[in-house]
Amino acid sequence: METKRLNLDEESLNLAADILKNGGIVAIPTETVYGLAACALDKEALSKVFAAKGRPQDNPLIVHIDSLEMLKKIAVNIPEKAFLCAEKFWPGPLTMVLESSGFVCSEVSAGLDTVAVRMPSDSVARAVIEKSGLPLAAPSANASGSPSPTSPFHVLDDLDGKIDAVIMGENCRVGVESTVISVTKDGARLLRPGAVTLEMLKEIFPDIAVDKAILSQPEKDEKVASPGMKYKHYAPKTALYLVNSSSKAFCEFVNKENEVAVCFKEEAKNIKGKTYVYGEEENEVAMAQSLFAVLRTLDKENIKKAYVHAPKKQGVGLAVYNRLIRACAFRVIDL
Ligand code: TXA
Ligand code: MG
Repeated sequence: METKRLNLDEESLNLAADILKNGGIVAIPTETVYGLAACALDKEALSKVFAAKGRPQDNPLIVHIDSLEMLKKIAVNIPEKAFLCAEKFWPGPLTMVLESSGFVCSEVSAGLDTVAVRMPSDSVARAVIEKSGLPLAAPSANASGSPSPTSPFHVLDDLDGKIDAVIMGENCRVGVESTVISVTKDGARLLRPGAVTLEMLKEIFPDIAVDKAILSQPEKDEKVASPGMKYKHYAPKTALYLVNSSSKAFCEFVNKENEVAVCFKEEAKNIKGKTYVYGEEENEVAMAQSLFAVLRTLDKENIKKAYVHAPKKQGVGLAVYNRLIRACAFRVIDL
């Protein structure tokens, strides 16, 4: 199939909405990463999303909405604190896993009795939801297992010829996928860290649980709260090693090993070999923005092995660390 490149003008966005209403699949920008959208009420369209990505059927999708009316159709027994979160963090990079009403197709939830819902803030994403009038299921628009796309060109690298269209929007502002929490009457659990940070969530849920799969590898056959956690993720072909250390120790280590380094801006000048910069040491937001693009570049340049300087596990740094530890296949070096 030919993948249409759509611009940001009104006519193009109307066309994107029409394709979605007619059961097609369209990659759209959001503030986090590009999503591969399909009507959440259309079983066939959903199966095209799983096929295009090569995504395992048991990994559920996030439904993107633009109103609380839509939320109330999709989920039931919504706890009061979920509405508080919606008030505080929506539209924005927070996904809530709630009890499903059964309104969206069971394929969206991959057979679970819960559904993940998010209201994006990106104006293009919102325009497409509004114009289509549909709840849109949208996983990240990458081939399953590769780093999420933060530009339309990343989408085309993975999915050109496999999807109906891609909206050629800007690079994503956040750069890592949304924070995912499950919310029940008993409280909340962090399933995937993102730009809505643990510290921010604690203001609403002082006792929020943090799933251990965020920073460690699930055991084989272990049942995980979020199916996405058990899959290989964000993995470039490059053999990556995550290094927890001070800047000085990191530079000494990579210089001694004489290997490629994925590091912060300030330390690149102290490293003898090839470096790939992802953000600045004290700026986790900038790290999140460039992380996935750097992982893709490593592959394009055919880098075989590299050491990555780990961020601190605080604020958005926790999200960056969570993606990196998977990209590194849980190979961690503590210096
Ligand atoms: O920022 C984002 O969330 C992006 C953009 C496009 O919105 N989407 C995204 O989707 O990252 P995806 O499919 O790549 O990741 C969805 C994650 C997966 O880890 C999945 O297992 C989890 O959300 N998830 C979805 N529904 C769930 C459910 N009912 N219970 C637990 N986890 C769920
Ligand atoms: Mg994904």
